[in-house]
Amino acid sequence: MATPPVQVGWVRLPDNSKHPYEEAAVVVHPEGTKSPPGLVHHRPGAPARIVVLVSGSGTNLQALIDAEIADKAQQAQHAEEAQQAAPAFGATIVAVGADRTGIQGLERADQAGIPTFALRVKDFATREDWDRALRDKVAEYEPDLVVSAGFMKLLGPDFLAAFDGRVINTHPALSPSFPGMHGPADALAYGVKVTGCTVFFVAGGVDDGPVVAQAAVPVEADDDVASLHERIKTAERALLVDVVGRLARQGWTIDNRKVTFQ
Ligand code: GRF
Repeated sequence: MATPPVQVGWVRLPDNSKHPYEEAAVVVHPEGTKSPPGLVHHRPGAPARIVVLVSGSGTNLQALIDAEIADKAQQAQHAEEAQQAAPAFGATIVAVGADRTGIQGLERADQAGIPTFALRVKDFATREDWDRALRDKVAEYEPDLVVSAGFMKLLGPDFLAAFDGRVINTHPALSPSFPGMHGPADALAYGVKVTGCTVFFVAGGVDDGPVVAQAAVPVEADDDVASLHERIKTAERALLVDVVGRLARQGWTIDNRKVTFQ
């Protein structure tokens, strides 16, 4: 069995750091284990910074935006009543990125007043150049967590190296079943009676990284791909908001494939 990572101390972050905490844990990773420092020391009331990547309608993004809005309203209400309360969500979306323009996901971000950017693969000489440009753009926002929410591109090695253990994705099937672009259609074609959605840490393969959480969705006799995917997406949005909030409020470790909230 692999030896778990060991926390050996704390380091003070510079005053101009955009991170919402003052200190980071120093963690030693014995050979064979892998774990990001996670979120270790929040300033009271300061939310975790997240960058969301989208390619389409952005309903998962909207669920995260709505959770942040509800959180702010609740915090304001508590402040008015001179009460102290822990945030219910605990994350703030600092930017939304896309691999294309003219999509509803970017409109949703605009409407919420969130900075956006779009980097198209075809505008770069190579896929690797695009991957590095995406890495650099996302890094400008100093995210604690990157959320790929309906982002229809595989993130490359340079991107993943920069945000190792800090990129999650959501997939509309119960991993390891039905990876790839057509999770609901493949589940329907196979004839399974239960499918669902999976939130996982991106590790470089196709929908195969360490699982953070899953939700089951029954397949109905009269389902077609659209009706099944819509029902999965309802579960997916709730799961994503729950997972992002827990990661933001609690921090996490990844030990081999096991994800643990702190
Ligand atoms: C989600 O089901 C996601 O898992 C899949 O594409 C869908 C994106 O939906 N990869 P939206 O853009 O968040 O509405």
